[in-house]
Amino acid sequence: MEGTVNGISFEDSGPRGGIPVVFIHGFPFDRAMWEPQVREVSKNRRVLAYDVRGHGRSAAGDGQYSMELFVDDLVMLLDHLKVERAVLCGLSMGGYIALRAAERQPERLSGLVLCDTKSGPDTDEARIKRAVTIAAVKKYGVPKFANEFIKAVLTEKTLKTKPAVVSSLLNSILGNSPLGISGALLAMAARTDTTAALAKITVPALILVGEQDKITPPSASEAMLKALPKAAMYLIPEAAHMSNLENPAVFNEKLLAFLK
Ligand code: MLT
Repeated sequence: MEGTVNGISFEDSGPRGGIPVVFIHGFPFDRAMWEPQVREVSKNRRVLAYDVRGHGRSAAGDGQYSMELFVDDLVMLLDHLKVERAVLCGLSMGGYIALRAAERQPERLSGLVLCDTKSGPDTDEARIKRAVTIAAVKKYGVPKFANEFIKAVLTEKTLKTKPAVVSSLLNSILGNSPLGISGALLAMAARTDTTAALAKITVPALILVGEQDKITPPSASEAMLKALPKAAMYLIPEAAHMSNLENPAVFNEKLLAFLK
């Protein structure tokens, strides 16, 4: 079933009963990036996948986003769908949302899957880079940004050998407005540090990261592994930042084993 609530577009699939898994996509994509995972996980479990505000089919609104607003949207969606507790699975920006949700509302969580993400905030250098990107998106438009961004998130091998992955990600980026993209960049730049919350996350956690991820490198995952009381971590081979799409076989094997 597809639906929209308060501007947030979502897809609710799989059998009822048990704890649902909520997939939260990375910037600047949409829920389509979770297709290989939604297909597998929904065979046995309820799955929710949604478009973060300003992305995909969700409303862009006024473009003034914060990580708090993104978490408000997630909680609103869980309430709307009467989901008391869920396993949150977030990649990169989706991981930032999941981590802040875990810090704010630990009682809504029964597991956490952190993919190609980190708990630390932006450095000053990263914030300046986001400001430069906002200016460039406004000046030169989304297509130029999309073509550059895609090269930063995929391995050389994925770029050369997986045209369907490349075109699906490009289409997702091109479907977003400059307002939505800029708003998400501002929200990420201003996000808080959730590192101190990791020690208090007592539900099981799984950390997955592409071995060639340069945006949120394996060292950031190792730091979260040390701080989380109940976590396991796996490097996904032949993958950079989009590990779930670059190597769905290994990614799904680890994810399904964790969910069991
Ligand atoms: C993402 O993949 O969600 C973003 O690249 C994360 C970031 O820019 O910090």
